[in-house]
Amino acid sequence: MRTATDSPSPARAPVSAEFFRCLVANMRSGVLAIDRAGAVVLMNEEALRLFRLPVGDYSGQRLEAVLGEHPDVLRVLSGVFDRPTLPSRAEIRMKSTDTVVGYSLSLVQSESGEVIGATMFFKDLTYVEQMEERERLRDRLAAVGEMAAVMAHEIKNPLAGIEVLAGLVRRKTPDNPDAQALVADIISEAKMANAIVQQVLDFVRPVRLQVEHTRVADAIQSALALAESQSRRGNAVVRVALPDSLPPIRADQNQLTQVFANLVINAFQALEGKGEVRIEAREALTAEDGALVPDTQHAVPSVVIDVIDTGPGIPADRVEKIFQPFFTTKPQGSGLGLAIVRKIVDAHEGRIDLAPGEGGTRFRVTLPIAPASH
Ligand SMILES: Nc1ncnc2c1ncn2[C@@H]1O[C@H](COP(=O)(O)OP(=O)(O)OP(=O)(O)O)[C@@H](O)[C@H]1O
Ligand SMILES: [Mg+2]
Repeated sequence: MRTATDSPSPARAPVSAEFFRCLVANMRSGVLAIDRAGAVVLMNEEALRLFRLPVGDYSGQRLEAVLGEHPDVLRVLSGVFDRPTLPSRAEIRMKSTDTVVGYSLSLVQSESGEVIGATMFFKDLTYVEQMEERERLRDRLAAVGEMAAVMAHEIKNPLAGIEVLAGLVRRKTPDNPDAQALVADIISEAKMANAIVQQVLDFVRPVRLQVEHTRVADAIQSALALAESQSRRGNAVVRVALPDSLPPIRADQNQLTQVFANLVINAFQALEGKGEVRIEAREALTAEDGALVPDTQHAVPSVVIDVIDTGPGIPADRVEKIFQPFFTTKPQGSGLGLAIVRKIVDAHEGRIDLAPGEGGTRFRVTLPIAPASH
């Protein structure tokens, strides 16, 4: 018998059964193997995590019994022994856990060529997918932003011309009150247009962060003051619930104030003077708990801040649009509020989502406690 000692070639060193077991157990992809009768042969830890199964040995059990909760996966594996070709790169969305899974299937053949089982290798793509989606949105925003910047710049000059010329007309018609009133209107409309153009230019300018140790509570307090000065709170009640243990984060305090002010202003406007705005925050350390997963693998310590209102909520068909620049449902809105919020949050390597909630609206801002690049 050849052993490791009499065979000098490391490539031919025998690999122990334990090594194989550990190799499969520690893989960062999920592995599920079944035999020809459809019984589980092995499932590694990552597979158990993805299928939300308690740790245990499932070998010998019927696949249908083990994965009864995940019919999408059962469908993928059904008929695996009868198909002429098997997918080497495919994706499914597991409705049970709302997880996107990339997988490949292969047959297990014995040394004599007999098919003795099948394996599914898979990977959780949820974070990858979310990242791609954000990437696409960012590209779109960049394109829109560039066009807006050019237009805003071009509009600024004729607008200034209108203002100057209207001023001349005013001076030339001192005795005509009707003309004076009309010209005053022209000037005020031109000033408004100019303010919008300025807002657009501010929006398209890249965000430059002045990062410092920032207490989220301070940013929220300033944001509330700013929101009250810029919009009508009426009888709406504001409740802030922040744990004392919330760690300070590395962030630009002024820009964070802008983020929360925009969210609170939207909430006040949605409430129309009645109801409640709640601001809650917590620390999150794991992906399950809502921490950021920037490299799609490792969660980074994060702070999760929710701005919740009891207003009418946002209809499902609008959810896609609200972060787009210039999308507004308000007569006086510019539709830049949430686009600016997203831009600032992105610059902090954080994320903003519209989180599901019971009635009303819940915006969730997640920020890394210490962003990698600042
Ligand atoms: N808390 C909320 N409740 C209901 N709808 C909201 C809420 N926040 C945002 N929206 C919807 O999203 C749209 C876009 O919001 P965004 O802040 O970007 O622009 P705006 O508030 O319309 O204008 P601006 O912020 O520039 O004054 C709003 O017009 C509104 O329809
Ligand atoms: Mg707004």
